[in-house]
Amino acid sequence: MNQPKDKLIAALDVDSQEEAMAAVGRMDGALAWVKVGARLFSSTGPSMVTLLKQQGLKVFLDLKFHDIPATVASACKNAVATGADMINVHALGGRAMMAEAAAAARNGAKTAGLPPPIVIAVTVLTSMGPEDLIQMGITGTPEELALHLAREAKAAGLDGVVASAHEVTAIKSANGADFLVVTPGIRPAWACADDQKRIMTPVQALRLGADFLVVGRPIFGAADPKAAALLTMKEMAEE
Ligand code: C5P
Repeated sequence: MNQPKDKLIAALDVDSQEEAMAAVGRMDGALAWVKVGARLFSSTGPSMVTLLKQQGLKVFLDLKFHDIPATVASACKNAVATGADMINVHALGGRAMMAEAAAAARNGAKTAGLPPPIVIAVTVLTSMGPEDLIQMGITGTPEELALHLAREAKAAGLDGVVASAHEVTAIKSANGADFLVVTPGIRPAWACADDQKRIMTPVQALRLGADFLVVGRPIFGAADPKAAALLTMKEMAEE
């Protein structure tokens, strides 16, 4: 788990199976992990995960479930049956929802003869700043809310959270070093921010203790995605 390759999750934010497989093919084995989110999954369905697993990739199925506990539990069971190595729910769905999600995911994997999946919760989207929370009627800063929701995820028995790298230190000290923090909003020194508001470089995020870095557009939006991935990993190795 100490190699940059094992800590980099490249977000396959494309629209079709063909585009996704072409993007992965161009990587030539440079990646260990990819992320399939709502955009790709809603076009391809679960077969996308199967295809990526056949390529020897680990898959983070980022569907961010948020519904009543029974529905999320069933969805998690189905998500795990695709062979996904990591799945997630929204922490704002509440502690009961998260606890049922984790139990269903673990039992589902066991029944399907699969290894236990990593089950994590999204705290606060990295595209959200303080003014977005005010608009939603939520008091407190994104950092305070993320820390609170991470504690809830830990109490619900989840393996970790998705959070901004800015919150890693506080989340780790409140929940222990083993509580995973997966950080999107990562921008290598040479990349632009896009719509992400709370960004950090790979080296900064790793120094703060992030376990996995999610990088999307700086890699798959680059003219040479493989070179961008290798450059990102080179930057990570400077940690
Ligand atoms: O292109 P970029 O590096 O900004 O992509 C980040 C990826 O991480 C996107 O797929 C986005 O949906 C996801 N994500 C995020 N913030 C979260 C959770 C997931 O940006 N809190």
